[in-house]
Amino acid sequence: MRYFITTAIDYTNGDPHIGHAYEKILADVIARYHRTFDGPTFFLTGVDQHGQKVQQAAQKNGVQPMEFVQKITAKFLALWEKLEIQKDGWAETTDPRHKNAVRKVLQSLYERGELVKAKYSGYYSVRQEQFLTDKERNEAGEFGPEWGEVIFLEEQNWYFLLEKYKQWLLSFVETHPDFVIPGFRRTELVNAIARLSGDLCVSRPKERLSWGIEFPFDPDYVTFVWFDALLNYVTFAGYLSDGDSSLPNFKELWPCKAHIIGKDILVPAHGIYWPIMLHAMGFSDEEMPRLLVHGWWNVAGAKMSKSLGNVVDPDLLADKYGADALRYYLMRDNVVGQDSDFSEERLLVRYSSDLANGLGNLVNRTINMSQRYRGGWLASAPVQDADVESIRELAGFVINRYREAFERFEVQNAIEAVWELVTRANAFVEQKAPWKLAKEPEQSALLDAVLYTLAETTRLLALLTGPVIPRSSARILEQLGAETFRTLEWGGLPPGHRLGTPSPIFPKIEEA
Ligand code: MSP
Repeated sequence: MRYFITTAIDYTNGDPHIGHAYEKILADVIARYHRTFDGPTFFLTGVDQHGQKVQQAAQKNGVQPMEFVQKITAKFLALWEKLEIQKDGWAETTDPRHKNAVRKVLQSLYERGELVKAKYSGYYSVRQEQFLTDKERNEAGEFGPEWGEVIFLEEQNWYFLLEKYKQWLLSFVETHPDFVIPGFRRTELVNAIARLSGDLCVSRPKERLSWGIEFPFDPDYVTFVWFDALLNYVTFAGYLSDGDSSLPNFKELWPCKAHIIGKDILVPAHGIYWPIMLHAMGFSDEEMPRLLVHGWWNVAGAKMSKSLGNVVDPDLLADKYGADALRYYLMRDNVVGQDSDFSEERLLVRYSSDLANGLGNLVNRTINMSQRYRGGWLASAPVQDADVESIRELAGFVINRYREAFERFEVQNAIEAVWELVTRANAFVEQKAPWKLAKEPEQSALLDAVLYTLAETTRLLALLTGPVIPRSSARILEQLGAETFRTLEWGGLPPGHRLGTPSPIFPKIEEA
């Protein structure tokens, strides 16, 4: 069984922004943690290429939808590479393998009477791609600006029989408290389920929307974008793939340990449609996935938007500060589940205080001093020293806290624990002043013990920071000559080991 996680798949109607980057990095950090410290892991992410928004964006740009989505998809792919997103699976909803499996799901739901055709007339929001009811009217009795253009429509469509599963979903959510993380989002979901009424329209007449997956039993219709997109989580994990060897073995992956999504797509898509779809498809309660719901990145308290001109571009930031610096900042200044405010100044502060002056400085001093006083050679020194002892002890505590935090998806807490060790180790250097010990021959054993303690602490820190700052972590291990010493037990560096050459991992950034 592999540890299987996914993220939302991003719309390809516009360029990637910092919100998309944050989610992919969060998932990548969690995946790397499991891959490094737990065992086989599979991380699936991708792009949501169908739907009205894409069709409209393509039209506006005067190109065919396929050409348009391929161009945007290439931007996402290039960004994920730049940000060191180590994905194992890539979901594109125009992929024929996905389209085939979606058609099979539709066919089987149809045969089992879960899809019915019915006429509906009412107000329709073009932007949100949904029919509106009186519940959506504001206090003035109108459909507010959040719905964009609203038109009156009468049409026949295919409906997925959602409402009949309302009681099942309520009791499922109530009896499975960790279906939604963090817990406070569960209350929001339970309230939404209690208000659920009506079925889900899962088709769009082709004359209105052609950019979608055609219904196998009614070719005048294409599939509603969410129905198509949600299924990516199973289709790209090998569900209904007839043993296609280019896809994973579904039984080995499912159920998913976490679908990582933003708070805006919990209700109704992931919290209501998705579990009911799976239930209707025959998945048992034990086969339901878990939802990890993160908050939003805002700018100066405001939502990012093109019209405000405050959209933050992760590509530029990675060029300017490096992928690791951006990854570190986004993970360190955010509590998973809560909103955060993006600030380039904060990024810079974190870079210089935590990375350059904290970890970078420790690595540099550790290797430099070993080189200067011992030619880089580590020696075992059986001295009794309370400070040496306390660093060893702290390292053990930190590793436990780090692991517990990751098991709860609390990435920020894991990082905080690690930096407690960074700070303590830097203080230990001042405390022990190796430059003084080096002048006193009778302190030679203590100097060996201090240098060993620093090198070993630095090795552990490189391992622990690996999921968040993979490139820097690899460089630290390389400078320590410790690429192959991967145990989290104290003492991984053997006496007689020789450290490599130091070179700054986080150089000073000249402010523009
Ligand atoms: N295509 C749908 C998801 C389908 S999943 C089967 C979609 N796409 S999206 O591009 O609008 O958003 C993709 C992810 O990015 C979502 O999880 C969303 O919450 C997240 N974010 C979008 N803007 C965000 C911020 N400003 N901050 C953090 N995450 C945000 O929804």
